[in-house]
Amino acid sequence: MKRAFSGVGARLALALFVVLAGALAIVYLIVVPSLESRLVNGRVSELERAAPGIAKELPADRFLWPDFLEAASASANGRVVVYDTVGPPTALVIAGDSQAFRSTDVQRDPIALAAAERQRAVSGTTTHGDQRFAEAAIPVPGSSAVLLVSATLRESLATVRVTRERLLIAGVFALVVALTVGYAGSWLFARRLRRLERAAERIAAGNFDEPITDSGSDEVGQLARTFDRMRQRLAQLDHARREFIANASHELRTPVFSLGGFLELLRDEDLDEGTRREFLATMSEQVDRLAKLATELLDLSRVDAGRLRIERRVVDLDEVADTVVDEFTGLAVAGDRPLSLSEAGSAYVLGDEQRVLQVARALVENALVHTPPGTHVQVRTSEGALGVEDDGPGIPAAHLEHVFERFYRVEGQRASGSGLGLAIARELAQAMGGTLELDSEPGRTVFRLRLPVADAVAPVEEHVSV
Ligand SMILES: Nc1ncnc2c1ncn2[C@@H]1O[C@H](COP(=O)(O)OP(=O)(O)OP(=O)(O)O)[C@@H](O)[C@H]1O
Ligand SMILES: [Mg+2]
Repeated sequence: MKRAFSGVGARLALALFVVLAGALAIVYLIVVPSLESRLVNGRVSELERAAPGIAKELPADRFLWPDFLEAASASANGRVVVYDTVGPPTALVIAGDSQAFRSTDVQRDPIALAAAERQRAVSGTTTHGDQRFAEAAIPVPGSSAVLLVSATLRESLATVRVTRERLLIAGVFALVVALTVGYAGSWLFARRLRRLERAAERIAAGNFDEPITDSGSDEVGQLARTFDRMRQRLAQLDHARREFIANASHELRTPVFSLGGFLELLRDEDLDEGTRREFLATMSEQVDRLAKLATELLDLSRVDAGRLRIERRVVDLDEVADTVVDEFTGLAVAGDRPLSLSEAGSAYVLGDEQRVLQVARALVENALVHTPPGTHVQVRTSEGALGVEDDGPGIPAAHLEHVFERFYRVEGQRASGSGLGLAIARELAQAMGGTLELDSEPGRTVFRLRLPVADAVAPVEEHVSV
């Protein structure tokens, strides 16, 4: 319940209520009084306009006054009184006394007294008994009399009272409606926000399965859609992370189990020397494989954590090609895969020499390992690029897209690595501002590392963390 009143819904409804109540108060306190004064003033000025005419037309003969004044009273729609002002003003003739008030009320009428005293027209409102009257008094020209025209304000004031009452009723009704509609509307709004909040909590708890839906086209709807895109992205990342861990542990487990098996076999004391050497050689291979895998995993984790240090200097691709060919000549000869070199002469790029070497090694190693004996492998440099080409059977088209993915290997191929080499190579190429491209068809496979071309004279020193 506490939440219901402290929530955004209740606050919005309350704000609406306060604004509406303020508007109604202004209407009530300003509009109603001005309506009242307009009606009263209107009545007073009607009488002001009628009084001089009646005073002027008043017959000289006092015996004619009652009839004359009766007619005048009817046309002015009020009571007409003539006072004698010799001595204290006394009402001489009172006409139009039909309006249910006592004639004696007018004996000491303040407006008539004021007109008699000042000898000029006076008008205004006055109260007789419990009723208000609009009045206009004027001295009768050429005599000592004062004429008073007076009309009750009962109807006008009743109109004002009715208006005020209706306004009050309408106001209370409008406030109740505003509070209800405002609260309901903002409750619906707040409910959408609460749904988003629950979705965020689900995501925070690691549950990415349930989609976040909100059909609205407003800001909350947009927020929900953005939220859902974030959820999908997180789900992908989470999936990739789990897959990575599963793959990595699988890759680690195989050589470790194999080593364990060989250790068991080596315990056998009757083992002849030849077999022992064979076992040790295989074990050494497995350890190499483990070491390579550990390095690759470390590289990948650095890339993912954005902690890979990449230098940006001028690198001579020809030098890199020389080094790599030298390093792999032994392996190439042993595997009967001729390794040759074709240099551009000047192929300077911007990059990190160690990382360029690492990429070149991965490519040459692949060309020597994933091809049948007799395959020719060539390392070729050109402006801004280092290519590793082989005339092996190539990579089937269906796999071309995937060989750069982590842990991806083309099935049924002779040598099996862990499938991380190309993934890392591409990450490194991109980290140096370059690309790693692949073209493969039966008889010709080319991996090409392209890097930003450098001006050989002006080495740029810069460290980039990727
Ligand atoms: N020159 C090539 N010719 C034919 N297939 C290749 C060639 N280079 C790569 N491949 C295929 O692409 C796959 C992915 O290569 P990648 O270097 O990423 O992994 P790997 O060599 O299997 O393992 P790692 O390099 O991590 O030891 C290889 O398993 C292989 O099937
Ligand atoms: Mg490889």
